[in-house]
Amino acid sequence: MVHLLATLLALVTVAACSPTFKPKSKPELNTIAKQHRKLYFGTATDNPELNDTAYRAILDDNRMFGQITPANSMKWFATEPSPGEFTFHDGDVIANLAKKNRQLLRGHNCVWHNQLPDWVSTGTFTEKEILAVVERHCETLVRHYRGQVYAWDVINEVFNDDGTFRQDVFFNSSGSKFIPTAFHAARRADPHAKLYANDFNIEGPNAKSAAYQNLIKTLKKEGVPIDGIGFQSHFIVGELPPNIKENMEAFTKLGVEVAVTELDVRMTLPETPELLAQQRKDYETVISVCQAVKGCIGVTVWDFTDKFSWVPGTFAGQGAACPWDENLKEKPGFFGIIDGFN
Ligand code: G3I
Repeated sequence: MVHLLATLLALVTVAACSPTFKPKSKPELNTIAKQHRKLYFGTATDNPELNDTAYRAILDDNRMFGQITPANSMKWFATEPSPGEFTFHDGDVIANLAKKNRQLLRGHNCVWHNQLPDWVSTGTFTEKEILAVVERHCETLVRHYRGQVYAWDVINEVFNDDGTFRQDVFFNSSGSKFIPTAFHAARRADPHAKLYANDFNIEGPNAKSAAYQNLIKTLKKEGVPIDGIGFQSHFIVGELPPNIKENMEAFTKLGVEVAVTELDVRMTLPETPELLAQQRKDYETVISVCQAVKGCIGVTVWDFTDKFSWVPGTFAGQGAACPWDENLKEKPGFFGIIDGFN
């Protein structure tokens, strides 16, 4: 009997020490990002998704995501639906979730031409009026979340692809004056939040990224507080622009940090093994560029699962853009992210 027990004990000890015995833990993207000196790996999320238990199990794990961004609930339509009447309920849900999960929060966004309430988008304003409207919105929004937000997208998508200013209600009423107004208001409201400009199609060197570099130089010269540039990074499989690294460095040389703020890599459906393999490479490339540039502080995916991606709702016939599939299973792209950090 004693002999039998000793044998059993020996077997258990050998098994426990053998590398194959250990239950294999899932790779954790935020843990890996931090091991590689990044501030966070994060994801966008949205209020309706928060009821999905399986989704929440991944979202709430701060070893996987060290940062979250509300995809919709801090936007103007959601926070100031009528002039001067602010509603923060849905934004607060996300901010409280970040706090509970000990995740950083990105504020998205103060001034954007899209998802505006009608009173802004169809209103007619003098310069003085629109600047007052922008100032009140940014100051009230940013102040409400004071101390809770790592970085705010203060201005979002203000340039066209050719580098000219977008002709929206803000530009049409004030020229580019709304930009310093928004940044100054945000700084007053939360002096510790990093203040960003955020846009798509600025990841490679082109007319639009040059326009942002000029804007940053001008703002800095004029004492307007800008701390960062967000590369949204909504890419198409196999079509990453060349020279993302050089372009990132051109921004960091201007004295701003860079973040990849809305990464996804869409494809024309149906998915094929070839497309998924290319998508894996594309995720790896983006991460490896951020990894190689010291001033690139972190990466956020624009939701992590195809179940909740914005892509199919906007681009008919396209999708499968995220690193997790619709059943919340990791895709090759997920492993591309890991490889990109190594
Ligand atoms: O709020 C209505 C709801 O009442 C209605 O029942 C429902 C039916 O379709 O629509 C809801 O509005 C949707 C809204 O998201 C809130 O869920 C809109 O249809 C939908 O178009 C809108 O999409 C958002 C999109 O911005 C708007 O342009 C996406 O969720 C959001 O992920 C996306 O995010 C943007 C970033 O803010 C900026 N960069 C590009 C990125 C992708 O477009």
